[in-house]
Amino acid sequence: MTNLEIAITGGTVATASDTFQCDIGIRDGKIVALGHDLAQHAADVIDASGKFVLPGGIDSHVHIAQPSGEGIVMADDFESATLSALFGGNTTIMPFCLQERGQSLRKTLSEYHSLADHKCYTDVSFHLIICDPTPELLGQELPAAVHDGYKSFKVFMTYDNLRLNDAELLATFDVARDLGATVMVHCENEDAIRFLIEKHEAANKLRPSSHASTRPVAAEREATHRAVSLAEIVDIPVVIVHVSNGQAIDEITQGRKRGSSITAETCPQYLVLTSADLEGMDWEGAKFVCSPPPRDTADQIACWRGLKDGTFDLFSSDHCPFKYNSPDGKLNPRGAKNFRHIPNGIPGVETRMPILFSEGVNKGRIDLNRFVALTATNHARTYGLYPRKGTIAIGSDADIAIWDPDLEVTVRHADLHDGADYSPYEGLELRGWPVTVLLRGKVMIRDRKLEAQLGDGQYLPR
Ligand code: URP
Ligand code: ZN
Ligand code: ZN
Ligand code: ZN
Repeated sequence: MTNLEIAITGGTVATASDTFQCDIGIRDGKIVALGHDLAQHAADVIDASGKFVLPGGIDSHVHIAQPSGEGIVMADDFESATLSALFGGNTTIMPFCLQERGQSLRKTLSEYHSLADHKCYTDVSFHLIICDPTPELLGQELPAAVHDGYKSFKVFMTYDNLRLNDAELLATFDVARDLGATVMVHCENEDAIRFLIEKHEAANKLRPSSHASTRPVAAEREATHRAVSLAEIVDIPVVIVHVSNGQAIDEITQGRKRGSSITAETCPQYLVLTSADLEGMDWEGAKFVCSPPPRDTADQIACWRGLKDGTFDLFSSDHCPFKYNSPDGKLNPRGAKNFRHIPNGIPGVETRMPILFSEGVNKGRIDLNRFVALTATNHARTYGLYPRKGTIAIGSDADIAIWDPDLEVTVRHADLHDGADYSPYEGLELRGWPVTVLLRGKVMIRDRKLEAQLGDGQYLPR
């Protein structure tokens, strides 16, 4: 009797807690059997012997088609970003809807939905960005949005046009607590950064490397301490995103010791890049401009330690793609060779998991279960998608990435699928890559070849 649509056979299956040899049976988009000798019951058999069978990745920190204050357009739309995500082993991504000043949240959301709907290769769920917490927004619009399933939002302590001051942070946290919404905080001290930018401009230090020297560790450490303290005062859990260094990690550890509930995230750029990359010849350093900036090797080691010992819950890309060679790109920002106009952010949704797999699992820094937790399970738990997403279990969506742990890949932007024109990881030699990816039981990529249709990805209300 054939009652399974697909059986994945002979692979080593891993979840956030266990590793086992078994076949996976799939029907109606769900995992319906974990067992042995399932091939005989299935219409389509995927042989995974010698491979790892893992939950599809969830990247909960991705920027797509977000307007920037300076009118610069991001290099990805939902089609290219989700295609790139899919080839990197992801089955769900969580981009942000940025509310522009003066625009209603409802309008913002409907605009993002019209950009995303029917144009995705992965499932998608949105966070909001709150940059203008007026009484009307906090009192009416945000509660309505949370009620409609937009249950998480990011706030910024930096960037001219996005930052909230402490009073605004407190008011926003307070509303989030009442609504049970999840708050993500970008921690950098904007006044300190502005002070340093002015000093650098006065000294005519305008090259990309000044981006890193005007956003020092102390600015992130101080803001992390403040965010954790303000959250403690309001008594809400917080997510501290894109943590880049050991001192900020220490602030999180101290906050937890005092009893605060803190979820912590780091990203590939803090593992394999350093501030020295911003010193590249000509203007090449602009390719590595993101905030917080990459730090030094001691901070890389601190981030690895945090990934291994459980200090970090989430490993996200912070994919935020801009072209390098384009009139509005990183090479010639607004026609001015000044670091402060270089758009902030780097592409990385496709390379996120291969970097952690190769540098982490294959080099013995973290084990396979930790890899699954950091790249999938904990994202689903943090943002309310678990157990439908983020694990391999009976009843969960059949979102599965089959990894060849020995496939050697040298990162070349030409082989990636995003809309940028470079990769900050160009030339990085990696071992291990996802070769076959299923989304809700549909084979999207088979042996590294696309079988998906645009629009196979769905929106996930939470
Ligand atoms: O430089 C970065 N990370 N740009 C994206 C926006 C953000 O702060 O996450
Ligand atoms: Zn049978
Ligand atoms: Zn940020
Ligand atoms: Zn970000």
